[in-house]
Amino acid sequence: MPGRIPAAFIDGLLARVDIVEVINRYVPLQRRGREHVACCPFHDEKTPSFKVNADKQFYHCFGCGAGGSVIQFLMEHQRLQFVEAVEMLAEQCGLEVPREGGGGPSRGTARFKKLLEALDLAARYYRAQLGDHIEAANYFRSRGLSPETQAAFGLGYAPPASGHLKKCFGAGYDEALLLEAGLLSRGEHGPYERFRDRAMFPIRDGRGRSVAFGGRLLPGREGAAKYLNSSESPVFRKRETLYGLYELKQARGFDRIVVVEGYMDVVSLAQHGVRNAVATLGTATTRAQVQALFRVTPHIVFCFDGDRAGGEAAARAAEQALPVFSDGREMTFMFLPEGHDPDSFVRDNGGDAFTEAGGDALPLAAFLFRHHAAGLDLSDPAAAAALVSRLKPLIEQLPRGGVFRDLMFGQLADKVGVSADSLKTAPPQARPPARRAAPRGGGVRYSRIRIAVRSLLEQPQLAEACEWGELALDAGDIRRLDERGARLLADLVEKIRQHKPATTAGVLELYRDTDEEQAFRRLLAEPAAAEVDRKSEFLGAMNRLERDLEAQGLKREIAELAAKNAPDERDRRQLGQLQTRLLALKKA
Ligand code: UTP
Ligand code: MN
Repeated sequence: MPGRIPAAFIDGLLARVDIVEVINRYVPLQRRGREHVACCPFHDEKTPSFKVNADKQFYHCFGCGAGGSVIQFLMEHQRLQFVEAVEMLAEQCGLEVPREGGGGPSRGTARFKKLLEALDLAARYYRAQLGDHIEAANYFRSRGLSPETQAAFGLGYAPPASGHLKKCFGAGYDEALLLEAGLLSRGEHGPYERFRDRAMFPIRDGRGRSVAFGGRLLPGREGAAKYLNSSESPVFRKRETLYGLYELKQARGFDRIVVVEGYMDVVSLAQHGVRNAVATLGTATTRAQVQALFRVTPHIVFCFDGDRAGGEAAARAAEQALPVFSDGREMTFMFLPEGHDPDSFVRDNGGDAFTEAGGDALPLAAFLFRHHAAGLDLSDPAAAAALVSRLKPLIEQLPRGGVFRDLMFGQLADKVGVSADSLKTAPPQARPPARRAAPRGGGVRYSRIRIAVRSLLEQPQLAEACEWGELALDAGDIRRLDERGARLLADLVEKIRQHKPATTAGVLELYRDTDEEQAFRRLLAEPAAAEVDRKSEFLGAMNRLERDLEAQGLKREIAELAAKNAPDERDRRQLGQLQTRLLALKKA
């Protein structure tokens, strides 16, 4: 499996590529001062609010908020995957994309293509075997699959005889390649065919290329797993792949996608006219899968068994999806009657009944409350507290700034009978000094952090000031600040010091696919004074934060002293000194 692309390579790439030149190929740009502008390609507009800044290697649109590095632009404009965009840019610079930890061949290399060719040849070979093996052909028929459905999914059969792959590949038989492709397994007596005497389901990637297989035992065979799947390979990452996604995309025009558990379920649903189903590959739904689905549809329906295990699996799927569940997206949960899986359900009740049941699926909010409040009597304060401690961490995973997140907090607050504000601001565990930030005054504080963050985004080199002692405040100190955004700022300082990105775009790439990335983009899209001295602005903000930290410490000491049972004269004197110092700090 190819490793991650090193951050340093991405940053170097961004420094070499001219973002203006690349974007200009797709969207003609006009020079305006130090920036280039155009009408935004991501939304409809008549006056240009799309700007590209070569110094920062960054684009953004004041109209719709789109923005990011040249990689982001290619991903959004050309609908490329991250790796594809990086490879495209690297190719233009004549660079080979390195992978951390060596890893296997990466996309686009000759080896990668050979693996795909081998898998394709095997898929066609397995398919052709159905003609010679009547029992396998009968099996698919007995499960109600028409020849058309079998063809659409490329179903086939791997014969029992060992050595059948030698026949399939003939002179092209390359043991190392077939091992890497997962078609051969290593055995005591040398490599042997992984799939023998099994009904075969090819697993395809987004472009329809077979990248792996699932193989099912025929009836009457015993002593082996019912389903056997290809192992991971350079062309197959189980956690990022969904069975049936390519086939579904061929059919188009769906307003939602249903996620089920089995290969057979997907194929059987299609047979009954339900063509918008995909399956995970024998694992729990992963975040990467949810993200892949949300790229294709705004609405995911998770379909599970109606038993306890189904409920647990649904809760795990929901948890994976929360961080990417932005407003405008929908997620619902359907539970089949006990004893049914989607295949048996449509065979008994037909495809329309399945689609109808899907229409009645529980929305995410209702599901979360039902699942986590099950068996709790919320009139009992202890039970209400238990519900908060289960749900609050989940709600906090929803993208910040979203309406849905607020509504969820509101609902939880209603259910347990407290105010939404106290629910949101209550720290996870009780903290000793009760610091109630002045509600609006807090905004001033936050803006210091905002200024510091924005300065770092615009000029990442400023983070060195924290390193070379121009400032007394390092990342650890910042993290101790009891203020909104402090952790974010501390992480940013550390990340920049570790990876040393040269440009704004380089910083954003370090945060790709995180909540922070969204927050940073919003911050960068806010208009700023044209000619500010970033460095003095940054140092100014940091100095004020330093005073905040000192004040924080003073207040804690004051609170401790004030809480003393029998304060003596020395305590009182000290208290007075601390208060004077605090006052002075506030005035400064
Ligand atoms: P199920 O056991 O629910 O099978 O496995 P199914 O989909 O109903 O299949 P049929 O109807 O008996 O043919 C669901 C999924 O779990 C994975 C497979 O991905 C399968 O599609 N699985 C199951 C395995 O990986 N290995 C197994 O041994 C069983
Ligand atoms: Mn089944």
